[in-house]
Amino acid sequence: MRTRTFIPAVIAAFALSASAALAQTVKVGVINTLSGPLAAAGDQLDRGMRLYMKLHEKDLPPGVKIELVIRDDTGPNPEVAKRLAQELITRDHVQMLTGVIWTPNALAIAPLVTEAKVPFVIMNAGTAVITTKSPYIARVSFTLWQSSFPMGTWAATHGLKSVYTLVSDFGPGIDAEGAFTKAFTAAGGTIAGSARMPVTTPDFVPFMQRAKDANPNAVSVFVPAAKEATALMKAFGDLGLKDAGIKLIGPGDITTDEELPSMGDAAMGTLTMHHYSAAATRPENVAFVAAYKAAYGAKEEPGFMAVDAHDAMAAIYSAVIAQKGTIDPDKTMDVLKGWTFASPRGPISIDPETRDIVQNEYLRRVDKVDGQLRNTELETIQSVKDPWKELNKAK
Ligand code: PHB
Repeated sequence: MRTRTFIPAVIAAFALSASAALAQTVKVGVINTLSGPLAAAGDQLDRGMRLYMKLHEKDLPPGVKIELVIRDDTGPNPEVAKRLAQELITRDHVQMLTGVIWTPNALAIAPLVTEAKVPFVIMNAGTAVITTKSPYIARVSFTLWQSSFPMGTWAATHGLKSVYTLVSDFGPGIDAEGAFTKAFTAAGGTIAGSARMPVTTPDFVPFMQRAKDANPNAVSVFVPAAKEATALMKAFGDLGLKDAGIKLIGPGDITTDEELPSMGDAAMGTLTMHHYSAAATRPENVAFVAAYKAAYGAKEEPGFMAVDAHDAMAAIYSAVIAQKGTIDPDKTMDVLKGWTFASPRGPISIDPETRDIVQNEYLRRVDKVDGQLRNTELETIQSVKDPWKELNKAK
């Protein structure tokens, strides 16, 4: 009796350990903002990334798994982000890094991924220069130059002669200001004034009042998406700029889809340039929005950070699948360079030369349809490369 039960047990144990040896688990470190006043943005990232994994886990080769090791940077805190990246690389032995909403955090991590040769797929941080800081960085999100440069041209050629610029005083804000100003003035526009605001939870009222007092045709604003954008919109509404005939314009961060219900009617008529709108009718987006609502609730709208994280996870999956779970850093970068994807935002690719995203930009206006605010896409600019890199190419 004993031997009969013993033998199958041994065989079973052997088979188990053999399959365990065959199984490949790829460890991916995720640095996200999960607590603090800016955690709503992190929630978008988390949702987008998990949605992709839920829908596509079945696409991984047999025996290959992706294990996320998730860490909280608590906001734009480069020292914290650097320490977390260091621990993920040296202690947890992650084979790739991803996440990262904040530019200062991405810049703090860049030298570490170069030294350790750990591919770093950026899900948000949008200051143009970031991708030049390491050959192991690929960005699947956007740059502020990509949205704000074409917005400047559009504004100057559509009757907005004088614009006041108002931005958060850090990388993406400074890029939004610089890109808008360059394109807008080149096309004949005049800057009525400009101001830079503290990054986190400033009082927007005095800044918005100064913009109003300059009496421009429009205020061009960048603040971080999510709750900051909603607070900004409240100041714009409360101070009566719209009634004074002053338009609100900027990159789509200021009218991010998931916050539109909280922004209310003050947002109506805001014109933005951006790479994603939840209201877009492309089949890939209709399917994405439906899957998002099925996963997180019928009233929930995905914003651009959810889409960007979803797409970044698609890029990571492509690298894992191409290498059947055995990750080599340089081969991973080879897969990412030139990677293409039919995203909910339209066709996207990673420029093999710069490792930065190439995508459409859409001129959008906040409208109300069936009682709901949405970013209606009005015009499309196809396949935009980061203009900052185009303008600063070594001659
Ligand atoms: C960034 O830090 O690069 C950043 C943060 C929030 C945004 C866009 C860019 O909405």
